[in-house]
Amino acid sequence: MAEHKTRLAVFCSGTGSNFRALHRAITEKHIDAEFVLCLSNRSECGAMEYARENGIPALQVSENQYPDYKDFVAAMLYALNEHRIEYIILAGYMRKIPDAIVKTYHERIVNIHPALLPKFGGEGMYGSRVHTAVLSAGETESGATVHMVDEEYDRGRILMQETVPVLPGDTPETLARRVLTCEHELYPRALRKLLNAQ
Ligand code: GAR
Repeated sequence: MAEHKTRLAVFCSGTGSNFRALHRAITEKHIDAEFVLCLSNRSECGAMEYARENGIPALQVSENQYPDYKDFVAAMLYALNEHRIEYIILAGYMRKIPDAIVKTYHERIVNIHPALLPKFGGEGMYGSRVHTAVLSAGETESGATVHMVDEEYDRGRILMQETVPVLPGDTPETLARRVLTCEHELYPRALRKLLNAQ
């Protein structure tokens, strides 16, 4: 009998460099899983392009497509069921996950955040805002956190963290680049550990 590979959906909104790093780790057989869906609130973004290039179904599901929020949530759940998704991997997804999805996928949604949670997390803390806040606070180190997603923003169980230094003269852009490089190594390592423990 063919070995079962864990069926993953990746949720992205942007470049998708973390998605690429994870996909590479899977292709190189460091993680025993497969991406069977890329879901985005945007039809055109780096992540969706990468999914299409690699034969991974790329599906736009956005609040803007549904006047009624309930229908938006239903469309998301339908897609997850249809593709028999076991884990949802958030990789630069800039929208809140609907509560019904968090409930259905309890302990099966993973996120990467570009700072050392519980610091610099919460509503409105995403992308370059995080790095701006880290620099304004005068921190000497930052990093990335891989954590499970629950009902509260950036509050779920922490799976793994890695630190990077904040260097004199850093701007939000230079710090973001250093953290992102760290994310590309951390996320595959954390996902591999999580799935191996199942
Ligand atoms: C990453 O730095 C990720 O940690 C961050 O967005 C970037 C996406 O980059 N996510 C958040 O801020 C979510 N709160 P990518 O599209 O190149 O992977």
